[in-house]
Amino acid sequence: MTTLPTWTSSSGTTRSARTTAAWRCSTNEQDQPSPIPVGSLERRTHEDGGDDASSANPWAEWLTLHGTSRYSLGTKRGWIDFVNGAPREDFATLSRSEMDELDGESLVDYNEVRGVWHANAPVIKTPQLQRVNGIFEQVLASSHRDGDSLRGSVLLDSLPGLGKTTAATRFGRTFDRRQRRRYGHLTAYGSPRLPVAFIALTANMSLKNLNQKLLRFYDHPAAGRATRAELGDLAVDCVATAETRLIILDDLHFINFNHRNGMDLSNHLKWLANEMPATFVYVGVGLSQKQFFDEGLHHSEAAYAQTSRRATRCTMAPFNIKTDGGMRAWVAMLQVFEGRIKLADAQPGCLTEQAQEILRRTQGYMVSVTNLIDRACSLAISTGAETIDSRILASVVVDNAAEDASTG
Ligand SMILES: Nc1ncnc2c1ncn2[C@@H]1O[C@H](COP(=O)(O)OP(=O)(O)OP(=O)(O)O)[C@@H](O)[C@H]1O
Ligand SMILES: [Mg+2]
Repeated sequence: MTTLPTWTSSSGTTRSARTTAAWRCSTNEQDQPSPIPVGSLERRTHEDGGDDASSANPWAEWLTLHGTSRYSLGTKRGWIDFVNGAPREDFATLSRSEMDELDGESLVDYNEVRGVWHANAPVIKTPQLQRVNGIFEQVLASSHRDGDSLRGSVLLDSLPGLGKTTAATRFGRTFDRRQRRRYGHLTAYGSPRLPVAFIALTANMSLKNLNQKLLRFYDHPAAGRATRAELGDLAVDCVATAETRLIILDDLHFINFNHRNGMDLSNHLKWLANEMPATFVYVGVGLSQKQFFDEGLHHSEAAYAQTSRRATRCTMAPFNIKTDGGMRAWVAMLQVFEGRIKLADAQPGCLTEQAQEILRRTQGYMVSVTNLIDRACSLAISTGAETIDSRILASVVVDNAAEDASTG
């Protein structure tokens, strides 16, 4: 068993109980453990000396162990909780008569458990995700270069809601675990190893803010007080000390590369890539149009932009069922969701038989798909329908873009 030794969980006892137990279950998000019967949850509570309330109600215990995670990926503690996390423990779906036998509180908790379960679908290895992973792996091949050679970088550039952040963070997590397994949790100099840094940019990003965000990830005490000139050097130090090998910069579209400020930031990103022995993953919406590659240079000078030669562009597309392959991938993805629905009357086919309609409602965007299915499950529970049929689907309201596109 592998556990991270030095970090305490940011969210207290509950979280550490979950991360430790969960880490033991599996290190692969795709590996879903087989369902455990309700009885075994009860037994474990007795063995652990749990209180009467939770032993009488296994769903409350499930929520304690597997409730919503509140970590923030932009801090090392949050990132480590994410890296240590694992799939939630599966449970058997109750029939209508089994639900009738529950007392009021247990039924409320059982429904809450189902809510958490449906809201947190596992990441599915869609063709889009696999393609992105393949490109990341290729670019990372140049991370074997010695420190005096520049490593490549990758730009994940697509429309909103297609799964860019999901793809980048899941890749980062796998990479992080692999590095720790190989090299241990401490560096050769005894510092805690942090193989991956994740930084999400915000509006009106300045050069100073960017460096501060990097330092905040490492929990560096000078993040709030160092001068602008010092911040960059401190950030380089943090990366070197923790032997960070992959740096993910998300929501890069907050930088306007055409603006003077944006050109400074673009040059600063190049400086960081030169100074830091890490591979950079840049993620954002419409970065190509925002002249990320051209560094804000005018058309005639764009050939001088180094970024265009250093970064590899990679995109994601929505599902499209016009081809047989596209339809197969869409149905396969819906089947994964279908297989984990916890509704008493849900039958195989409850989603796949409505594949065309679900595509019309979501346009094949992952964010809209997860919203639609999650909300449909919630509605099926609250109305007592206990399945997803065409009436439930029709009653679900999805995000604005998907509604506009499906009604327009
Ligand atoms: N492969 C996947 N399997 C299951 N769910 C996914 C997958 N990819 C994305 N999702 C879900 O879709 C939603 C949107 O994903 P994500 O935030 O990664 O998109 P994004 O492209 O980064 O969006 P934005 O441009 O708004 O930042 C999330 O709730 C995520 O859980
Ligand atoms: Mg995102």
